[in-house]
Amino acid sequence: MAALPNDPKPYYRLHVFCCTNRRIEGHPRGSCAARGSEPLRDYLKQRARQLGIEDVRINASGCLDRCELGPTMVIYPEGVWYGYKTREDLDEILTTHIQNDGRVSRLMLRPEDGPAKTEKSDKTVKAAAAALKA
Ligand code: FES
Repeated sequence: MAALPNDPKPYYRLHVFCCTNRRIEGHPRGSCAARGSEPLRDYLKQRARQLGIEDVRINASGCLDRCELGPTMVIYPEGVWYGYKTREDLDEILTTHIQNDGRVSRLMLRPEDGPAKTEKSDKTVKAAAAALKA
């Protein structure tokens, strides 16, 4: 949705949400934290600070519901998603997207990426998670 004329100016130029959700070991969807998202998110924050980037907020987030593609992040207001694995991936996102308003195509997640979300798949995942807790 586009901003309306009377909306206040955005507080941050960009808002980056990095999933750091952790699920129990063996969960069928896995989790971003199990794939290393916590130290990677810490690195991203540290590098942004070192680079003097002050108009961008980088937050840890809960599950963004694209777990199988994780670690994941989404950057607003554009709503661009990335899947990343290394510090080098994050350096590229910082330089290309966050500092220069470009896009890192090789890491971008598109709406069609990942498993389709259906009521049936949600029930399957919940049943599997319940079985793991038992
Ligand atoms: S655990 Fe990160 S998107 Fe779900």
